[in-house]
Amino acid sequence: MFARGPVNAFAEVGRRARGEVVRLDLGPFRPYLVTHPEHVQHVMRDNWTNYPRVGKVYGTMQRLSGTTLATEGPDWESARKALQPMFTARRVTSLNDELADVITERVDRLDGAARSGQPIDAAKTMADIVIAMTTRLFFGEKSSLENGERLTRAFDRAVKLGGLRTIMPLVPDSVPLPGDRAFANAVKTVDEVVYPLIRKARAASDDGHDVISALCRARDGSEVGDRQVRDDLVTAFMAATDTTTQTLTWLWPVLHTHLRVAARLYDEIDRVVGTGPVLSSHIPELRYTKMVLQEVLRLYPSGWILPRTAVVSEDIGGVPIDAGSTVLICSYATHRLEEFWDRPLDFDPERFLPEIDTRRHRYAYFPFGGGPHQCIGQHLFYIEALLTVATILSRFRPRMRNSGPFTPFPGVVLRPKQKIELDLVPV
Ligand code: HEM
Repeated sequence: MFARGPVNAFAEVGRRARGEVVRLDLGPFRPYLVTHPEHVQHVMRDNWTNYPRVGKVYGTMQRLSGTTLATEGPDWESARKALQPMFTARRVTSLNDELADVITERVDRLDGAARSGQPIDAAKTMADIVIAMTTRLFFGEKSSLENGERLTRAFDRAVKLGGLRTIMPLVPDSVPLPGDRAFANAVKTVDEVVYPLIRKARAASDDGHDVISALCRARDGSEVGDRQVRDDLVTAFMAATDTTTQTLTWLWPVLHTHLRVAARLYDEIDRVVGTGPVLSSHIPELRYTKMVLQEVLRLYPSGWILPRTAVVSEDIGGVPIDAGSTVLICSYATHRLEEFWDRPLDFDPERFLPEIDTRRHRYAYFPFGGGPHQCIGQHLFYIEALLTVATILSRFRPRMRNSGPFTPFPGVVLRPKQKIELDLVPV
């Protein structure tokens, strides 16, 4: 099952076990799969200190992103404290208009493809918009868009190569693997982009509201301080881009196969936004659009698998978990459990009507994680995604050129394995 498609295999194992803890037999790697909401809550929140983010998967990525935000302990705590204030609902809302301008500028560029009938690559186009937004938010006027694109390309390379060491956890770092050199080059590119920007932000010493200026103010200007700003920035930039890009990419095949949902979505955009431009005052009105995004994140949660390592042995749901073993939290599997979801494989945004949504176990739905490591970018995601979807749909009706099925590829972030091509039909 795992060889045919690991992502759906996790869901199938969870389904057959009805949410009980299962020990997987993946050759020498024997992790526990945890899917029941009570157990997820136990690992992510109630006893989270027993399940730190250590182990091979984190070790490899730390060579790129440093040992701050993506790990545990005092360094993680101080990085989270430095970053969190920049992504509160109030702060992100104050940036709506700036983000809307960036999106409009990127969507304007799609006019050419629409006129000539050239299909667009959905993932590339969504990445283009998301990278432009994130670069503006993180670096303000201090950086060209090209820097954001260079960073993203370096991350892509590193994540692919890091993946090799992650699936071969028993190969020691001292044994070279193909791709190690390219990984080192990716790290070098990131440093070449980020350190000059830090120096620029420090020299400007303004009260700029971009993330890099705020981080420079939060961290001192020593070598250690610069390294911390670099690590915080890199981790948050990575966490912010591919997750948002892939969620927006999954939307298009979903609309293609759910015409009633698509019609209601178009209706809402026509009614609230008309032919644009999208304004920040439209955001609270886009209720159905938000429910559609919530449902996309249920069936295709981009942070689909979260590994932890047990420190002390204990029982979860009557199953003994040995100290040192890997525990896999899999939102993709939990979000599809029949015990907690009616018709779990149907795409139905109505599940997120406020009166229904509150009846669910808090950890039956956790696309943004939970407990002390809960995602700090949730507000930003909804603002960016609502603005992007509304801007595109106020101008075009994207139609799929190639039809599915589209299967999930098991990267660090869940993405469709196949390329998705869209024709843009002007509204
Ligand atoms: C669809 C969009 C997103 C999804 C599905 C998502 C998902 C997640 C998940 C599941 C976690 C928990 C990781 C864990 O427990 O190990 C997380 C953490 C995090 N996310 Fe997001 N995220 C998204 C967007 C963003 C954005 C836009 C930002 C921008 C700042 C961001 C920044 C972070 C950071 C910094 C953490 C680490 C928090 C910590 O460990 O204390 N994410 N995200």
